[in-house]
Amino acid sequence: MATAVVIGPSSRELAISVANKLQAEKIYVQHKKFPDGESYLRLEQPISKGSDVIVIETLFPQNDSIVELLCILDVVQEFKPKSITLVAPYFAYSRQHERYLKWEAVSGKTIAELIDKKINRIFMFDVHHKKNLFSFFKHAKQIELSAAKQIADYFCNVKNPFVIAPDQERKGFTDVVARELRCKYSWLSKHRDRYTGKTVSHMRHKINLKGRNIIIVDDIISTGGTIVNAIEILKRNGAADIYAVATHYMNVAGVREKILIAGAKDIVTTNSIPAVISKIDLSEIIVKALRRK
Ligand code: R5P
Repeated sequence: MATAVVIGPSSRELAISVANKLQAEKIYVQHKKFPDGESYLRLEQPISKGSDVIVIETLFPQNDSIVELLCILDVVQEFKPKSITLVAPYFAYSRQHERYLKWEAVSGKTIAELIDKKINRIFMFDVHHKKNLFSFFKHAKQIELSAAKQIADYFCNVKNPFVIAPDQERKGFTDVVARELRCKYSWLSKHRDRYTGKTVSHMRHKINLKGRNIIIVDDIISTGGTIVNAIEILKRNGAADIYAVATHYMNVAGVREKILIAGAKDIVTTNSIPAVISKIDLSEIIVKALRRK
């Protein structure tokens, strides 16, 4: 049965690369913005009835891409495909997976429920809080993929490495990167003020970082506040070179510079969200996962 890859506008290059590797039919999407901000979407060709369809669309920029994805999925459904798989490397609003303050919207749940019934399964990368986010899907099968191995490969030439998670929640992710690099890891404690959003971090364990080259690994870099706090702590504790990496880098203006000024030697990310610093390619992991079916 035919496999068709729908090339989502926010994951164009990644989707083309996956489709090429799978030797699947590419369904391009015509995409434009009206002057008032609304989106226009049109599949550039029909999808053969009974196809297995893979839609690749990262949910960034968040609000536009969510609406655009929902529209694309509705058109795809009209062709009566055998199955629809969504590859959403970054799943927007995943950090709002629970109610921290009374009357807050659990936005991750709202978005998951909008998408859930339109697809058969979903792949996402390094999910912020897998247990909660996945629990919002009642219909689609959820599969988490990780960039951890590719991140380790990227840093394989760093001498005397030590991996740091900027908060407790990233311990598992960091552990995989450290195991791949055959080095030790640790994590910082981070507290976020739920009203101001400001974070305060501190070193959790006494570790001698003198001469160690540190790789700070996070799932998301947004304002860069978390990474900058971590860099300051690590520098005070004698770290040598410091590198920052996250699976999802939100392209907020000035953040790369802010992290470099704080003292990072380099900052890199994957092509989950396309950016100038997207040096780690996720296409191979996606292809392998899709081939496993
Ligand atoms: C939150 O706990 C995440 O894992 C990231 O650490 C956070 O989203 C990074 O955000 P920012 O760059 O704004 O500190």
